[in-house]
Amino acid sequence: MLIKILCVGDIVGAEAAGLVARKLWAVRSALDADVCIVNGENAAADGVGIDVKTAEDLLAGGADVITTGNHIWRKREIRAYLEREERLLRPANYPPGAPGSGYAVINVSSYRLLVMNILGSLYMEALGDPFAAAESILAREKGRYDIAVLDFHAEATSEKAAMAHLFDGRIQAVFGTHTHCQTNDARILPGGTGAVTDIGFTGPVESILGMKIPLILKRMTTKLPEKYEVAEGNIRLSGAVFTVDTETKRCAAAELVNMPIEK
Ligand SMILES: [Fe+2]
Repeated sequence: MLIKILCVGDIVGAEAAGLVARKLWAVRSALDADVCIVNGENAAADGVGIDVKTAEDLLAGGADVITTGNHIWRKREIRAYLEREERLLRPANYPPGAPGSGYAVINVSSYRLLVMNILGSLYMEALGDPFAAAESILAREKGRYDIAVLDFHAEATSEKAAMAHLFDGRIQAVFGTHTHCQTNDARILPGGTGAVTDIGFTGPVESILGMKIPLILKRMTTKLPEKYEVAEGNIRLSGAVFTVDTETKRCAAAELVNMPIEK
């Protein structure tokens, strides 16, 4: 059987989050996706973190699992929510005792899908070794899943490519998030892992990584602090679809998604 996994890149701001929540079922059926993972790292109204209402809307709107990243703790209410909602993940390599979990196993048709979320260590706050974190989840969950997928929320392309190669043949899809720039390298590695270095962001097109352009320019040219604001205008959905063969445990296709979402 072939299972299609739709992965949606970092949703930025309330408008994009609302649109995704309203249109995701239609996008899923247009792409024939059996399951959907969305990165909600920037889905709150101010573009940093995620709040409970937004998480609930995304889950009700067609997201099976929400992954996150370095901004997960920005909204304090999310700590308690992480403890009770196993479909919202935070990076697995936070120190022991952090609220919530870095992975979940969900049912897709008659298969068990292990979804993992890990934070990179290069050019960002280094948590535990990301490679060891993936290894330890696979060991802990051995026999409890059929297919595995990883959202590796990381800055460096090299680290993301290394992760995909290290787990080639053991994790069926490894995709990167965080940089908000979609990389043109959807591929299937020799061992059968589908990989994309970064699946891009879902949010306003006329922006710098989802934020208002003038504020970013001001901050970068004056070096003075400036609060970023989420941009407005047309929204695009960026992501990838991985088609996994449940018999061979190989990815049969890895394809980028980059499409407008009509308001
Ligand atoms: Fe991030």
